[in-house]
Amino acid sequence: MDLGLTDRTAFVAGASKGLGYAAARELAQEGCRVALCSRNEARITAAADDLRDEADVPDDRVLPLVCDVTDEAAVQAAVEETVDTFGGLNVLVTNAGGPPSGAATDVDRADYREAVELNLMSTISMCEAALPHLRTAAAEDDHARIIMVTSVSAKQPIPTLALSNTARAGVQGYAKSLADDVGPSGITVNTVLPGYTRTARLEDLADDIQAETGQSYDEIEADWADQNALPRIGEPEEFAATVTFLASARAGYVTGVAMPVDGGRSKHVL
Ligand SMILES: NC(=O)c1ccc[n+]([C@@H]2O[C@H](COP(=O)([O-])OP(=O)(O)OC[C@H]3O[C@@H](n4cnc5c(N)ncnc54)[C@H](OP(=O)(O)O)[C@@H]3O)[C@@H](O)[C@H]2O)c1
Repeated sequence: MDLGLTDRTAFVAGASKGLGYAAARELAQEGCRVALCSRNEARITAAADDLRDEADVPDDRVLPLVCDVTDEAAVQAAVEETVDTFGGLNVLVTNAGGPPSGAATDVDRADYREAVELNLMSTISMCEAALPHLRTAAAEDDHARIIMVTSVSAKQPIPTLALSNTARAGVQGYAKSLADDVGPSGITVNTVLPGYTRTARLEDLADDIQAETGQSYDEIEADWADQNALPRIGEPEEFAATVTFLASARAGYVTGVAMPVDGGRSKHVL
């Protein structure tokens, strides 16, 4: 299938490693020019170098940007630099790190505010910065996509991740609202909900569980895998393939969807 991504421009946030990096690499392999951002210059520069090597793309088609997505001015500047460098923007992938673990009453209001800034408000800032350019892309070549990274916890909360459960649900509501709002302009808006996927974030969560329960990493991973219909942990490439399809020209009639990539962990019927 030709995904129609050649010479499109994508901006992928939270992309120095993990799911964001995997999405950026897959989009680059499909022919996109890719801007990728994270908070740390050394990490995002190294990621851009890896991406050029692994996706075999020329230097001038990969743009590493230092941007903390909770900083609205930095988000605006990063999006503008992407458009100035590549001449437009077709695909926005919103993403950031995950909030700390904790049950609903173990965390306080300051923690909730921080999580909302990190995962919900950052998503809104990125969309607001990108929308003028996405409207132009939709009008010019009918290819404008927003994909928001959330979590399986948005559909089926994880008791020890109250901050994530709360902030991600807000993103789901925003995505559904935005899809209706910008649909008439030809922009699609979808969310991708990863389940347990092998990244540094998962190792951090395993460390928290180990500190609490004394379980080994293998036992923790087995517990996670047992929750899935497919009894294993996911790989970042499996997540990235779904993001890339939703970013593609072939997904032009898919909008407002919350797509789990979770090995069947979510047990809701619809
Ligand atoms: N992996 C899973 O199993 C899983 C499951 C469900 C949901 N999720 C969620 O999916 C998202 C990505 O997960 P992941 O596993 O790839 O996490 P990860 O391995 O911790 O990577 C997070 C990435 O985001 C960047 N980042 C963190 N805070 C940022 C900020 N404020 N501004 C810009 N970049 C930022 C980090 O780079 P710098 O440190 O260089 O900034 C890094 O590149 C997270 O929100 C996570 O909670 C993951």
